[in-house]
Amino acid sequence: MILKSNSQLQWFVRKLRPLLRAHLLSVSLIVLSSLMFLLDPLLIKWLIDKVLPKRDIRLLLLAAGAFLGIYVCRLGFSALAGMVSFRTVQNLVFRIRLDILEHMNLLSADFHESTPIGEKLYRMEQDVDQVAELGSSLVPYVLQTTFNAFFVIGTMFFLDFRLTILLLPLMPLFFVFRRRFEGQLRQASDSAQQQSSRESSFLQEHLASVIQIQLLRRERSQVQAFLERASARMKALNHRTLTETLFRTCYMAVIALGTIATLGYGGYEVFVGALTVGGLVAFYSYLARLFDPLNAAVDIYSRFNRLSASIRRIVEVIEKTPTVSESPSAMHFPSSSRGCVELQRVSFSYGKATPVVDGLELKLEAGEKVALVGVSGSGKSTITKLIARLYDVNQGAIHIDGIDVRDVRLESLRTNVCYLMQDAVLFDRTLKENLLLGKPSATNRDLFGALETADLGELISCLPQGWDTPIGPKGNFLSGGERQRLALARLVLQNPSVLLLDESTSALDAPSERRVFTNLVERFADKTIVFVSHRISALKWVDRIVVLNGGIVEEQGTHDRLVGNGGLYALLHNSPAPAGGQGFYPISSENI
Ligand SMILES: Nc1ncnc2c1ncn2[C@@H]1O[C@H](COP(=O)(O)OP(=O)(O)O)[C@@H](O)[C@H]1O
Ligand SMILES: [Mg+2]
Repeated sequence: MILKSNSQLQWFVRKLRPLLRAHLLSVSLIVLSSLMFLLDPLLIKWLIDKVLPKRDIRLLLLAAGAFLGIYVCRLGFSALAGMVSFRTVQNLVFRIRLDILEHMNLLSADFHESTPIGEKLYRMEQDVDQVAELGSSLVPYVLQTTFNAFFVIGTMFFLDFRLTILLLPLMPLFFVFRRRFEGQLRQASDSAQQQSSRESSFLQEHLASVIQIQLLRRERSQVQAFLERASARMKALNHRTLTETLFRTCYMAVIALGTIATLGYGGYEVFVGALTVGGLVAFYSYLARLFDPLNAAVDIYSRFNRLSASIRRIVEVIEKTPTVSESPSAMHFPSSSRGCVELQRVSFSYGKATPVVDGLELKLEAGEKVALVGVSGSGKSTITKLIARLYDVNQGAIHIDGIDVRDVRLESLRTNVCYLMQDAVLFDRTLKENLLLGKPSATNRDLFGALETADLGELISCLPQGWDTPIGPKGNFLSGGERQRLALARLVLQNPSVLLLDESTSALDAPSERRVFTNLVERFADKTIVFVSHRISALKWVDRIVVLNGGIVEEQGTHDRLVGNGGLYALLHNSPAPAGGQGFYPISSENI
């Protein structure tokens, strides 16, 4: 069995089941068409042995008519079967792709942050196409092959028992070759798919960052890297074809042996009168047809290998359980949460790396405005991601309004706690459509209010088509600062109880950032806001500043108190700024 794991087979059968009726139809048509195909040699035998010697023109016309009938039926059935099977394939592609898309939507940040998009796309596109095409043709193909084999062997026994007995031992040879090549074929198939996916991941990343590559003047080295991947892929594909060809050639040698035996021994039987000439011709035609199904079995075998490699890759994604998942007893926040956030002895690390957060204790009161500061890499983003439950803590717990975030329905959590990252993620749609993603039912007044809060009120009048201006792929038609503020306006529309702003105003000038902060505090006076900004001076006014260092809270308090303490915060605040004495960081480690 090539599909080693039961779950892979089960998954495939489950996908195929709804299409069973279409399958049965296409299988019946295929069987009918092959039955027509198998009647040929018998008709030829009749023609040679009975019609030609009698020189009867009526019988000859009857034979020609029978041939015509057989061909018309054969072509008709096979054309119909082709159409039905094409529709089945498309249906299967659609179902599997939808399944993967829905499952990808469930998977957590760890998967999405560590898997290249090219890799995910390869599984959704090439692997799905392979599974649908090979998979849906496999069942009719296997049935047709089995049917043909039985029909042909039966008729051969009927035509010449001894000759058939002579030929049958050749058949097990096929299985000997199969066993001999099994491992090699599978390995070659897996490696070809892996290399193809590696190449497409590389291309995907390259195409998404061509401008950056031009700026770095790394076009040549990228082409070199592409060549390396492309040649590895070519090698793997060539190796796969070579292995398959070798297998096929060995197999064809068996067919040649069979043909020689038939012509030699069959010819002798005609000499001694044990077989008619028509019988020999019919037997010879059936021999080719006997090897047809066996040949097809070889083909089925390599198809099956490719199919199982693709199924394995799809099932790998489909069966991946999201690391952040909803417990069956998860609940909604009562109405809208108050926004009291409590981190209790929280420890967390990415993979097996050293902990980024180590026994952190932190409580944010409902409605409090808190700044998270610390040098770059001190874990500010990680903490905000943990609160938004993009990742789950390794130890400890995070409570919101006294409820562990792991016990809250993800939908409810994401309605009440919103995390905005530094790199604003916008979509290739119009400005209005981007905003409506925050609140589909928003009125124009809501939208305008949100833009005002994000200090983007004037943007509409500057854009050629106002609300309906397309903002380009990833929002490229806007400036960096505009993109960030548009994402912020979208967050404003979501109206959460806890706002986590992770350097989400980093591209703004200081006065503009200040205006945005003031607007936010005014609009979300009773909501909890966590500000992460590299501009410490912009955050002096918050209720509390929390200074992180090495995964724990180093100190916390108001700006004046922390400056008075003369600790890490004072150092960060007083470090020389590039312009305007604003207190920028990260600062060099010697400063600390
Ligand atoms: N997805 C990730 N996988 C592995 N390590 C990560 C990931 N994200 C961040 N880190 C590591 O965690 C540490 C803290 O990162 P982060 O929370 O982003 O810091 P900050 O936001 O304070 O600059 C860094 O050392 C960083 O290398
Ligand atoms: Mg960060």
